[in-house]
Amino acid sequence: MKILVLNGPNLNLLGSREPETYGSVTLAELEASLKELAAREGVELEFYQSNHEGDIIDRLHVARGQVAAAVINPGALGHYSIALRDAIAAVDFPVVEVHLSNIYRREEFRHHTVTAAVTAGQISGFGALSYRLGLAAAIELAKQGR
Ligand code: DQA
Repeated sequence: MKILVLNGPNLNLLGSREPETYGSVTLAELEASLKELAAREGVELEFYQSNHEGDIIDRLHVARGQVAAAVINPGALGHYSIALRDAIAAVDFPVVEVHLSNIYRREEFRHHTVTAAVTAGQISGFGALSYRLGLAAAIELAKQGR
């Protein structure tokens, strides 16, 4: 079983980007910890990060029929990209939305994501743990075939 882990704009800078908000764990470290977790469940992970909206959308399209679920941190795209929202709605696997920071405790423009309504659920505010919780949810949903 394969699960896709997608990261949107600026998440390549994790570890050094606003560490007081996003923590000091790098994206490579975060992905390594997810890989370990997935391996214990017999799940294979595919990782993709891009700063470009269209690339993220293309990656979702390619994943159709190939992965059992996805975890996505859409970054700022989650707040405004209807195109990303439509891509998530178009795929045939469940997508779990994650955010490192608690977006509801931050600036008002971060309180809403256009993507949440088409995801299976959202986890926000637990730092790197948001991804591990998101992956656990994605694995469960994939096993249930939802
Ligand atoms: C984020 C929250 C977004 O508001 C922000 O634009 C990000 C990161 C998070 O993981 O907390 O890039 O998605």
